[in-house]
Amino acid sequence: MNYIEINKQAWNLKTKLHVNSAFYKQEEFLAGKNTLQPIELELLGDVSNKSILHLQCHFGQDTLSLARMGAQTTGVDFSEQAIQIARVVNNQLNLNSRFVCCNIYDLPEHLDGQFDIVFTSYGTIGWLDDLNKWAVTIKKFLKPGGKFIIVDFHPVVWMYSNDFSYVQYSYFLDEPIVEDNEGSYADRQASVNYQTVGFNHSLSELFQSLINQGLSIQHFNEYNYSPYNCFPDMEQIEENQFRLKPFGNKIPLVYSLVVQG
Ligand SMILES: C[S@@+](CC[C@H](N)C(=O)[O-])C[C@H]1O[C@@H](n2cnc3c(N)ncnc32)[C@H](O)[C@@H]1O
Repeated sequence: MNYIEINKQAWNLKTKLHVNSAFYKQEEFLAGKNTLQPIELELLGDVSNKSILHLQCHFGQDTLSLARMGAQTTGVDFSEQAIQIARVVNNQLNLNSRFVCCNIYDLPEHLDGQFDIVFTSYGTIGWLDDLNKWAVTIKKFLKPGGKFIIVDFHPVVWMYSNDFSYVQYSYFLDEPIVEDNEGSYADRQASVNYQTVGFNHSLSELFQSLINQGLSIQHFNEYNYSPYNCFPDMEQIEENQFRLKPFGNKIPLVYSLVVQG
């Protein structure tokens, strides 16, 4: 099974949907809205004049938000549709971000250099089969002393069925999850159909992949809310904070991790 090709097709399709969705609010972004959430903004700190490599950047909103904050940014994604939109918007906004279109594992064939910060967020490692390979890429592109920052959905979330009605998968699942999907988290009613192949990763798998590269853990946190209303049946608790109605504050939805090169 060529899971990269299957997922790339899915993301090309979803990108076309997402850029026009109420969820991504592209008009507000174009008008100046910063799309980064408080969790990562705090961890990123002052990014002015810092070089940032943004992995799995989708169609560039966060990469370009970081550029607006004064960082020199490079975004990477394997979706041609996403990178095409990101490049057009970069020019439209007169920013100087660079965008690379490739599978994350192939990045060393497309990009040189090292960065002050490597960043990735919300819906990333679940598309990758091998975190050890991913961590090698991070280590390669991180300056000595540089920071890798990930904010993503907690692995506990991915144990549940899509409607969160039951625990469907083992926390320690090590087989791919092949799904036929309709709609998207950004527009559940959209009439798009596509297949995806996803991978669940435990926190120990995540931590060990980075430790194996000699990276040292600086920060780890878990949150009982998501900044995005991206799952079925969520309720808003505060600005930028959503919880699953059936679970309230009982389960973690998001984690943040910072490691140093
Ligand atoms: C959920 S999005 C990232 C979230 C981002 N914060 C956002 O919402 O704008 C996941 C992205 O990962 C990309 N992606 C998935 N697998 C990839 C791979 N193997 N190499 C590069 N990009 C990949 C997809 O194209 C998609 O743009």
